[in-house]
Amino acid sequence: MGAGPGAPDLLTLRAARLIEQAEVLVWTDSLVNPQIAALAPASCERIRTSSLTLEQVLEVVQQRAMAGLRVVRLHDGDPCLYGALAEQICRLADAGIAVEVVPGLSAYQATAAALQQELTIPGVVQTIVLGRAGGRTGVPERESIARLAALQASLCLYLSARHVEEVQGELLRHYPADTPVAIGYRVSWPDQWLTVVPLEQMARTSRERNLIRTTLYVVSAALRPRSGTRSKLYSASHQHLFRGGAPEDSPTLQPAQAADPASTAPS
Ligand SMILES: C[S@@+](CC[C@H](N)C(=O)[O-])C[C@H]1O[C@@H](n2cnc3c(N)ncnc32)[C@H](O)[C@@H]1O
Repeated sequence: MGAGPGAPDLLTLRAARLIEQAEVLVWTDSLVNPQIAALAPASCERIRTSSLTLEQVLEVVQQRAMAGLRVVRLHDGDPCLYGALAEQICRLADAGIAVEVVPGLSAYQATAAALQQELTIPGVVQTIVLGRAGGRTGVPERESIARLAALQASLCLYLSARHVEEVQGELLRHYPADTPVAIGYRVSWPDQWLTVVPLEQMARTSRERNLIRTTLYVVSAALRPRSGTRSKLYSASHQHLFRGGAPEDSPTLQPAQAADPASTAPS
């Protein structure tokens, strides 16, 4: 289950409830806030994973689950991102153990919120890419930083601080040198550090702060200071399913066009 980026009050209600009912808590202590682990009952067995291999983690989870205990495996952020979720689910499925996956707020969402920034600004950028530098895990060539940069989307880079010089060099092949880059360290934790620098200063700033772990980069033209941006969605001339009235410069919506509220409705 996802523990979110760090702050305990960014946990989902569902995650909090399940932690409070846990009989065994297997948690990523290198990235999850101990205050979140502390929500488990005093009687709960707590297992830290920072010194264990994935096989050892799976062994513990499998053994406790087969003994009929309520096991919570707690990951930082959202478990579907860089959490080795696939291997864990496969192994448990092979053992006939049913799992429930509970989402969490990912680091990129917490970073955008802390910056008070939308990452999809009409006319500027409409796509978000979540990626990483290769590192020890490696990435397929078609997902290299240079390829991702060619899109010039809002690019959120996880697990990349150790390779920041190389990353900056690759990004500069496609993004202008003054493209804003947000650098977020332990976003939402009490010692959060967050800044926005031009791309050409990304590596130097990271090195000066000695950032190696728990750092997220957001490279995006959406972070440029701007005034007067106005989304069509909230414009008086833009009609959608939840706001009627005669549009000034757009044809009346027909039922078929308005069939998918998710594509037009504000959230
Ligand atoms: C193993 S990955 C897991 C990502 C996680 N599942 C998520 O959705 O955020 C760990 C990386 O996520 C990023 N990260 C996680 N929490 C963060 C935070 N609070 N602030 C900045 N970066 C964070 C860093 O890039 C870190 O190296």
